[in-house]
Amino acid sequence: MPRLAILISGHGSNLQAFIDACASGKLLANISLVISNKPDAAGLQRAARSGIPHICINHKDYASREQFDAALVNALQAHDADLVILAGFMRILTPVLIEPYLGRLMNIHPSLLPKYPGLRTHQRALDAGDKEAGATVHFVTAELDGGPPIVQARVPVAQGDTAKSLAERVTMQEHAIFPLAAQWFLEGRVALRGTKATLDGAVIPATGIVAETDCPAG
Ligand code: GRF
Repeated sequence: MPRLAILISGHGSNLQAFIDACASGKLLANISLVISNKPDAAGLQRAARSGIPHICINHKDYASREQFDAALVNALQAHDADLVILAGFMRILTPVLIEPYLGRLMNIHPSLLPKYPGLRTHQRALDAGDKEAGATVHFVTAELDGGPPIVQARVPVAQGDTAKSLAERVTMQEHAIFPLAAQWFLEGRVALRGTKATLDGAVIPATGIVAETDCPAG
């Protein structure tokens, strides 16, 4: 069975989606390790409840981003991770981690990339008067939130939406598309080829494959 490592910083609802997808057989993988950079991340309890090995590697214990990333790489190599999932992992990565895992490192970002890299994505979508918001699973490259998209879920903005109400609906979609992208990867359907993501050998458009929002993918 392929081995996943999942990196978190907080609540861990995306981690839970991976745990559930593995349990139901939608995702044919074992989660071999959960790493949090925060000792109090609730996601660590989710891993504990499911009997998944979990550790905290606290970024505050390291003098530089590179040294922190080197500690992550050591742990990932010790657990022989085939695919590394950034599920709400709120640290900027350096080439020390990105290079050895290039093409095997996925992130989810709560916007319709290439729109709104960075933080406060839902508020920025509301401020811009966007009709749609969403989330994007993408390969991680050296550019922050800039790696090629794999799959995207779009969520209509409703009248009276706040960043919180919008985030709640987007997060539900994240839970569908992230394990789906991982499963495609593990089946060999999705890959990073140079600077592009491909599905079944064809280049994926810059917005990612669009998942149907009223019919959760996977
Ligand atoms: C998600 O919205 C994800 O898109 C963002 O951080 C949030 C993580 O939530 N990067 P959770 O910890 O998985 O519940």
